[in-house]
Amino acid sequence: MNEIEALLEELKLKYPGKRLVPGEGELTARVMLIGEAPGEQEEKLSRPFVGKAGRNLDEMLALGGIPRNALYVTNTVKLRPTSPGKGARLKNRPPAASEISDFLPLLEAEVHLIRPRLIVTLGNTPLKALLGAKARIGDIHGTLTKYADANIYPMYHPASLIYTPSLKPVYEAEAVRLGELIKKLDIV
Ligand code: URA
Repeated sequence: MNEIEALLEELKLKYPGKRLVPGEGELTARVMLIGEAPGEQEEKLSRPFVGKAGRNLDEMLALGGIPRNALYVTNTVKLRPTSPGKGARLKNRPPAASEISDFLPLLEAEVHLIRPRLIVTLGNTPLKALLGAKARIGDIHGTLTKYADANIYPMYHPASLIYTPSLKPVYEAEAVRLGELIKKLDIV
């Protein structure tokens, strides 16, 4: 069992009754992409970024000409954060600070084991988890920041485009730039 698997087992005990969604991809991947947390479809299939979020991600990667199977794809928090919705349904909510801190050692273990050259964070949650509360996506999206042996390339979360469509052209241009960056670094 590697460190990632061991930490996942510990977290399963801490969150009984929750299905965890592990990261997906080759441990030799040079690019790691980190989202916020799984949604309903991800929880159902136990895979990150499937369903609508997965289609959005695939569109973004297509803009940059980046094959998804070249990436290791994971989330800051590996469980679906929920609150009561209509009737018996559950609705998604942002991860709580306690969930983010509980899952941080696992995220750090993924970074240390995979040793990516480039880490793409989507939205504020993974950015703040890795760089601290002061880091803000609005300030540093599309720029490179050093983290461990890697660079972080922060991007807006695709879900934020639903609420703020004016971000879309910036997001798309940054997806194209991500593809160029990956080619330049010759890492896929
Ligand atoms: N699905 C994921 O796996 N992560 C997100 O951040 C959003 C949807």
